[in-house]
Amino acid sequence: MLEKLTAVPADPILGIIAAHAADTNPLKIDLGIGVYKDESGNTPILRSVKKAERILANRETTKTYLGPPGVPGFNSAITRLIYGDESSALREDRVRTIQTPGGTGALRVGADLINATRPGCKIWVSDPTWANHIPVFEAAGLDIQVYPYFDKESSSLRFDDMMMALEQPGPGDVVLFHACCHNPCGVSPEPEQWQAISDLATVRGFTPMVDMAYQGFERGLDEDALSVRLFAEKCPEVIVASSCSKNFAVYRERTGALSVVCTSTRNADDVVTVINSLTRQNYSMPPTHGPATVDIILHSEELSALWRQEVSDMRDRINGLRSKLVEKIAAAGIEKDFSFLERQSGMFSFMGLSVEQVRRLREEYSIYTVDSARVNIASFNAKNIDYFVEALKDVLEGA
Ligand code: LMR
Repeated sequence: MLEKLTAVPADPILGIIAAHAADTNPLKIDLGIGVYKDESGNTPILRSVKKAERILANRETTKTYLGPPGVPGFNSAITRLIYGDESSALREDRVRTIQTPGGTGALRVGADLINATRPGCKIWVSDPTWANHIPVFEAAGLDIQVYPYFDKESSSLRFDDMMMALEQPGPGDVVLFHACCHNPCGVSPEPEQWQAISDLATVRGFTPMVDMAYQGFERGLDEDALSVRLFAEKCPEVIVASSCSKNFAVYRERTGALSVVCTSTRNADDVVTVINSLTRQNYSMPPTHGPATVDIILHSEELSALWRQEVSDMRDRINGLRSKLVEKIAAAGIEKDFSFLERQSGMFSFMGLSVEQVRRLREEYSIYTVDSARVNIASFNAKNIDYFVEALKDVLEGA
């Protein structure tokens, strides 16, 4: 049976990890997958996470099953992190959150939930969106529709075009938004634009789904949840896929959450039974180590304060790198204006290179990016930034 199968191409983002690892050039740079790196090029375990893991190791007395919703303390703490303390949906007990294997797990369970209530439902995604959104949603049976988002010429948001396109979806349709640090383009709506988008959701009646994979990496933990909080105040139903991979740097621990705002407590109780049955059919129960660690951090004043500081340090370092890159590109005499990098946020931005220029960066300089020329800004450091700028100048000038 299996012999009928032929190989499929590697995932464009994951394929880069393997290609970079196999390269023996000491100057090689991996600008591909979105993981935070420090000045020495490492992805460290956060101090708050290390401390919480020690507490967990001493505290844990069993590894028995926990059940499909996962670690209860994690679910309640993440719920507060997502919606804040002032949420009327929380006060009215209309929110349910379950732990999932990473943010991708949340997206898939969320998509399964949508398909369970409305098979083949239309889901509108931004152009562009994270390379894995479409495969995940298609695998769940959803019908992908696209709305304009990023203007390549100005490297900015096509706000008016987006708003016009979002006049089309209505009740029974879902629209996916990135809460902050848009992946792949780094461009987010301004706070007043989120107000207008959430107003439009109420007028049109579509269901907002929000992917919040980088909470804390754009403006701050509360600021980055603005879109979710506005939708939760204004719309009867909201679906949120949240990830701790980046802001707790627990990538491989697969720590995420699916949260739903429902129209009533009773409906929320019913919906969570459907979610639990969907996860049971799929992976049965989520892993515990990452969420139990996050639970300890978010329930300790001291560890929470340390973690908040670590998140803001990561954000500041990325923003500093954005400014440094713009400065160095200008100083190198590159004609093209890259000042947009400083107006964008999070790990990613598009460098606006052709596939041929991306290929040259890879083959001639061992600099690895996905074909779209999306780069992970967090990968730059004092040792590699000049080498990158030099290579960029060469490929841009066709040298
Ligand atoms: C990325 O876009 O690089 C990250 O979200 C990691 C991934 O799984 O693709």
